[in-house]
Amino acid sequence: MTRAVLFHGLGGPEVMRLEEVEVGEPGPGEVRIRVDAIGLNRAEVLFRTGHYIEPVKRFPARLGTEAAGAVEAVGEGVTGFRPGDAVSTVPAFSQNDHGVYAERAIVPAAALVRRPEGLDAVGGAAVWMPYLTAYGGLVEVGGMRPGDTVVLNAASSSVGLAALHVAERIGATPIAVTRTAAKKEALLKEGAADVIVSGSEDVAERVLAATGGRGAEYVFDAVAGPGVRDLARVVAEGGTLLLYGALSGRETPYPGFELGMPALNMRTYTMLETARRPERLRRAAAFVTSGLRSGAFRPVVDRTFDLGDIVEAHRYLESDARIGKVVVTVAH
Ligand SMILES: NC(=O)c1ccc[n+]([C@@H]2O[C@H](COP(=O)([O-])OP(=O)(O)OC[C@H]3O[C@@H](n4cnc5c(N)ncnc54)[C@H](OP(=O)(O)O)[C@@H]3O)[C@@H](O)[C@H]2O)c1
Repeated sequence: MTRAVLFHGLGGPEVMRLEEVEVGEPGPGEVRIRVDAIGLNRAEVLFRTGHYIEPVKRFPARLGTEAAGAVEAVGEGVTGFRPGDAVSTVPAFSQNDHGVYAERAIVPAAALVRRPEGLDAVGGAAVWMPYLTAYGGLVEVGGMRPGDTVVLNAASSSVGLAALHVAERIGATPIAVTRTAAKKEALLKEGAADVIVSGSEDVAERVLAATGGRGAEYVFDAVAGPGVRDLARVVAEGGTLLLYGALSGRETPYPGFELGMPALNMRTYTMLETARRPERLRRAAAFVTSGLRSGAFRPVVDRTFDLGDIVEAHRYLESDARIGKVVVTVAH
C-alpha cells in the first residue's frame, strides 16, 4: 500500500485527497519508484479542473508527471535501470495512466532519466518539465541559433526561466516580458538581456527598438489569447511565434491576414513532442544534463510543501506571486 493523491470529481484544490491505495508490482516496461519529491505544474491544475489538453477519463483520478526519487523494482524487459538508481520522471505519460503525486508510483521506464550527481531530489523534481519544454520548443523544433533573439512572456514561470537559461547557453538573446515591475530585478539576475513590463510598456515598440527594427526570431508565448496580435508584430521576417501555453484563457486569433500576410510562422508546441520521442528525449536529456553539470542550468525552486499539504500547495501554485517552481517533498 502507499499514500497517493486522488480526486473523485473535477474542481478546485479541495477535491484532492491523500488516500491509501495499492501500488503493486511494475508490469512489462514499467518501474516502481519511491517518490522523494514532486514538481508541480500548471498542467495538473488544468487536468483537475477539466481544462487540460486531454480530459480525465475515469475517477478516482491521479495527478502528476514530474518526480524525483529512487527505483524500487523493475518490470519485465526493463534494461538500464536497477533498484537503488537515483532518477527523475519526465512528463512522457498521461495522468490517466500514471500519477506521481504519491509516496510510491509505477511509471513507464521510458519516462525515466538519471539524476545527475549533485542534484538532490527537490532539484531533480524541478528541472525536467521546464528545460524539456524550453529546449524542445526553441532548439529541437524551433532551431534557435546563436545571435537569434527570443521574446519570452510569463518569464518568471519555471518554463520562462528555463527558456532564459537555454537561450543564454545557445548564444541567443532572451528578452523577458512580465506583467508588473515586481519581478524585473529577479529576471535580470536570471539572465534576461532586457525586461519589458507589459503592464506599463509597449512590448512591440520595445522589442523593435532592442533589435534595431529587425524583430525577434522567436516569440515563446505562454499566454496566447488576443495578445498574439501584438506579439506577431515583433516577429522578424521568417521568424516563429511558438505558443506553448494559454494562461490568458481567451480565444487566440490568427493575426497573419490583418498584418498583411507577413512571413510569420505560428505554431503550437508541447513538451510531449520531445518527451514521447526517444531520439528527441535522448538529445534533450544530454543537453539538459550537460547544462546542469556546467552550472548554466539550475533548479529555481520558489517554495516546498509536504505531501500532506497538497491542497495548500495547489492554492499557492495558482497564485502568481512566485518565481520558479513549487515542489512537494515526501517523507518516508
Ligand atoms: N506546452 C508545454 O509542453 C508546457 C509545459 C509546461 C508548461 N506549459 C505552460 O507554460 C506556462 C507556464 O507554466 P509554469 O508551470 O512554468 O508557470 P505558471 O505557474 O503557469 O506561470 C506563472 C507566471 O505566468 C505569468 N502569468 C500568469 N497568468 C498570466 C496571464 N493571464 N497573462 C500573462 N502572464 C501570466 C505570471 O508571471 P508575471 O506575473 O511575471 O507576468 C506568473 O507568475 C503555463 O501556461 C503552462 O500551461 C506548457
